[in-house]
Amino acid sequence: MAHFQPSFLDEVLARTDIVELIGRHVELKKSGSNLMGLCPFHHEKSPSFSVSADKQLYYCFGCGQGGGAFQFLMEHDGYAFPEAVEYLAEKAGLEVPQETKQDHGDEVRQKRDYELLERAAQAMNKALHGELGGKAAAYLQQRGLPADIIRDYMLGYAPPGYGFMKRLFGSDSATNSRLETVGLVFKGEHGYGDRFRDRLMFAIRDRRGRIVGFGGRVLGSGEGEAKYLNSPETPYFHKSDLLYGFSEHRDTIRKSKQLVVVEGYMDVLALASHGLKIGLAPLGTAIGERQIREIFRLCDTPVFCFDGDRAGRQAAWRALERMLPLLKAELMPAFLYLPEGEDPDSLLKQEGGEAFARRLKEEAKPVLETWLHGLKLLAGQGAEGRARMAKKADTMLAAMTDSYLMQAWRQEAERSSGIALQHRRRAAVTDVASEPAARADIVLNPVEDRFMAGLMQKPARFLQLSGAAMEFFVDNPAIHALYSRAFSMQADAETETIDIARQLIRECPADQNMISRWINQATVHDIEYKSLLLDMEANDIRCRIRQGLSLGESVQLQKRLRELQAQQQLLKEQLIDTGA
Ligand code: UTP
Ligand code: MN
Repeated sequence: MAHFQPSFLDEVLARTDIVELIGRHVELKKSGSNLMGLCPFHHEKSPSFSVSADKQLYYCFGCGQGGGAFQFLMEHDGYAFPEAVEYLAEKAGLEVPQETKQDHGDEVRQKRDYELLERAAQAMNKALHGELGGKAAAYLQQRGLPADIIRDYMLGYAPPGYGFMKRLFGSDSATNSRLETVGLVFKGEHGYGDRFRDRLMFAIRDRRGRIVGFGGRVLGSGEGEAKYLNSPETPYFHKSDLLYGFSEHRDTIRKSKQLVVVEGYMDVLALASHGLKIGLAPLGTAIGERQIREIFRLCDTPVFCFDGDRAGRQAAWRALERMLPLLKAELMPAFLYLPEGEDPDSLLKQEGGEAFARRLKEEAKPVLETWLHGLKLLAGQGAEGRARMAKKADTMLAAMTDSYLMQAWRQEAERSSGIALQHRRRAAVTDVASEPAARADIVLNPVEDRFMAGLMQKPARFLQLSGAAMEFFVDNPAIHALYSRAFSMQADAETETIDIARQLIRECPADQNMISRWINQATVHDIEYKSLLLDMEANDIRCRIRQGLSLGESVQLQKRLRELQAQQQLLKEQLIDTGA
């Protein structure tokens, strides 16, 4: 584990200006002795995010997030603590003490991996402009992508054949194994080979702007081959967590309060080349809950673009279903169906950026309208159709967590179907509550039980959970409902200290015993909580491995599992040290 001398940390902080650091992302205005701006951690229309230049601390009176420069980098940009320290130290011109660096081989290795990915991207970009890249460069020109876009988004070209990575990095086995870990080469019968060959390359960055993977497009029609080849899942590249364009567009989206979700890399780039640096795209998979959560964190009025054909409508419906648990009255997502056969890229080419921006404003339909329309289409004609519509509406409303919004939607669906829906408060929980027998079915193993206790006792811990943690209880719907409800209560909280337990009991009286028990059992201290969190993730991974994934994915998960076990071991030693 990283260990810095307190005096070194003080020195780093003394040479850092938090106002400058935060000011890069948030527009700050003087207000009394502090500075105020719109909170980058939650949605708000009037500023409640305060930065104290004297104390070098920030705090949001809306969502309760607060801290200093290190915390800001960790919370806002996803840095690990040692990375935040090193980043600021470097910026301040301070040398990070050498013995500290050697302490964590893992971090050093990670840093090298990121460098490897960065260097590969640079080389691919260079290859695009070199002799071999003629075909790819001509293709980009024909697609109308200007030089500044090619540079800023680090497009590139992976030459044909199997020697590119070898020429770039050499071929010793340690290097090859790192290249395999980051997904740039694969191990075949005849040794290591380049994964991407003769492809136009899109560098994919994480929230922090580090390159973590690639998408590679065949040139021209490329018959018989997958049009796009993406990096496999690696320790750095998690498809369902990433959005193409995120780090490039985050600040513009926040400032302009505009965001467009599109389907492909080329659509994101076409938007950018028409001055609309507000596009994000999933990486070839249907958009998932975690990605939608990120989208809502950035902007409360995102527009989801889909093709106007049948497949497009189905994709839109899927996205709508995924976002139901996340919808709140404050959010106003909209759906835009494009003319059949067009994608944003092709439309922009025809009608330009202004016309497209107009479409976003004028033609995008609010999510509620999209929902009602979709229900009608699904249900079909006649009395049976209306009954089917009502049933489907009921099931979908059950997935919503904002009870006011749910009531409003229910009324609209009743009006539209002419049928009174069952007045279910929150079906995810009510379903179970209406069948008392099912209550007894909630079986928690001791780890899950202590984990929930740890969260309920100290709700601020919810704020530190990763997106992946949302999946922890999917197999246990009743607990999952409580867990995600508590999660969003804490996320929505006006103040730091809210009494989640009491609120939860009010909403879900059937669970009151369990909730009170969590509160009253022995305190879950930080070290135990950390260890529980590792166990929860490990269990989740074991579960996913059992579900039978592809070999590649399961290898990655096994690797993650070993990391978790190692961390667990460290914690155990710590516990022994402290005699706890
Ligand atoms: P499209 O086929 O619509 O590609 O796939 P595109 O982005 O419009 O690219 P052009 O205009 O044909 O060059 C949309 C997205 O689906 C994923 C990619 O992320 C792509 O951007 N995809 C598509 C794959 O991952 N694999 C494929 O074989 C095809
Ligand atoms: Mn396209």
